[in-house]
Amino acid sequence: MNLVVVGTGYVGLVSGVCLAAKGHHVTCIDVNPKIVEMLNQCKPHIYERDLPELLTDVINSGNFVATTDLFTALSDTDLVLVAVGTPSENGVIDLSYIKNVSKSIGDYMRTNDHPLAVVIKSTVVPGTTDTVVKQEIELASAMKFPEFGLGMNPEFLREGEAIQDFMEPDRIVLGYEDERTLKLLEELYEPWSCDKVRVNTRTAELIKYANNALLATQISAINEIANVAAAIGGIDTMDVVNGVTLDKRWNPIINGKRANPEILTYLIPGCGFGGSCFPKDVQALRSLGVAQGLDMHLLNSVLDINDAQPIEVVNILERHLGDLTGKHVLILGLAFKPDTDDVRESASLKIINRLSKHGVSISAHDPIAIDNFREKIGDVSAVEYVIEWEEHVASADIVIIATKWAEYASLAGMNTKGKVVFDARRMFEPSIFVDSKYFSIGLNLA
Ligand code: UGA
Repeated sequence: MNLVVVGTGYVGLVSGVCLAAKGHHVTCIDVNPKIVEMLNQCKPHIYERDLPELLTDVINSGNFVATTDLFTALSDTDLVLVAVGTPSENGVIDLSYIKNVSKSIGDYMRTNDHPLAVVIKSTVVPGTTDTVVKQEIELASAMKFPEFGLGMNPEFLREGEAIQDFMEPDRIVLGYEDERTLKLLEELYEPWSCDKVRVNTRTAELIKYANNALLATQISAINEIANVAAAIGGIDTMDVVNGVTLDKRWNPIINGKRANPEILTYLIPGCGFGGSCFPKDVQALRSLGVAQGLDMHLLNSVLDINDAQPIEVVNILERHLGDLTGKHVLILGLAFKPDTDDVRESASLKIINRLSKHGVSISAHDPIAIDNFREKIGDVSAVEYVIEWEEHVASADIVIIATKWAEYASLAGMNTKGKVVFDARRMFEPSIFVDSKYFSIGLNLA
């Protein structure tokens, strides 16, 4: 089918390219002509594994095109997906892009007398599609819902795994307010045979927030337990996690084998969650609850624990080493997680900011996120960015692994005798670094 995707950010572009790969004819809209030109030359403006190759395929097959011309694109479709940004302003999401696009689509519908099904793909708080979006479209189109259609179809893409997550989803949530929109969504996702959840739009919106809020809660919960274990001493929190997760409710035994569900990878004690989703979505859900007169005790704590967690790295170093002045620290990893150049809410931002106040000299490495990091952190004079991190291990007093990039695994085979290795992501078995002072979150065996 023909469809239009408005917005070529992370969600819009990945969705557009993957839907085109499944045989739909996709037109992606962006207001920025430079981005449109780049996309049409098969060059994505965001980093995501496998995206350049898939974009090239769908452009060559004639199933994908990018343009700035919304009205012309809309004339050839019945379905438009809206995937524009919803930036966070003091913990509340800013709906101005969603409103602007809704208005433009409404303007198009009025001037062309062509009612469309409008499906929101951006992450928006529950109650946005059936109030704000509906009102903007009604006002601009001079049509009354359900003359036009309304839907909400959230994405569950992980950065770095986005293509695979889209192509092989665990489930697809089809939020709809009218049968025509549901029918179009069914047709759109007909190539996928996974579970499909059919709900109203505000339920679809909350599924997205609840998903991220629960994962973030699990991370903060294990980090708090890890901090208690470290305070007591003589406990490795990973042993605790293993002991807990052998409970069949966490890790079922199927045909005599442990299923090892992926949820267990969100139970690693560490320096906290980052990125564009968990922090922003938890804050937005908290703000929504507060606006409803609720206390939101749990999500407040999830965020408080996470804010403090990167600083715990510096606190532990100080507790064990005393004054850090004059030390040379090598930070491995600046992105909020591996396989992405995204540094938003990255733990390394807080770790480096705090360390720089302690009179240390800092060398920092990341395979792809150095430019973004430098721009984000601004002028922190103590930091030298390095390309060949291996060359800087010898001169470092302290090596901190802040992002679990696969290439850092080779640290295990290097000479770190007498040095402090702070494994803030639990990348290594503590026993590997027998000659070094090995530290981690939730590990205080001394
Ligand atoms: C997250 C969700 O996992 C996706 O399902 C969702 O679609 C996406 O947000 C979104 O809303 O768009 P993402 O932000 O890419 O995806 O990152 P994750 O891989 O889930 O990791 C999030 C953060 O949690 C990372 O900073 C990671 O280092 C941290 N984390 C993860 C921990 O601190 N501890 C853990 O045990 C696991």
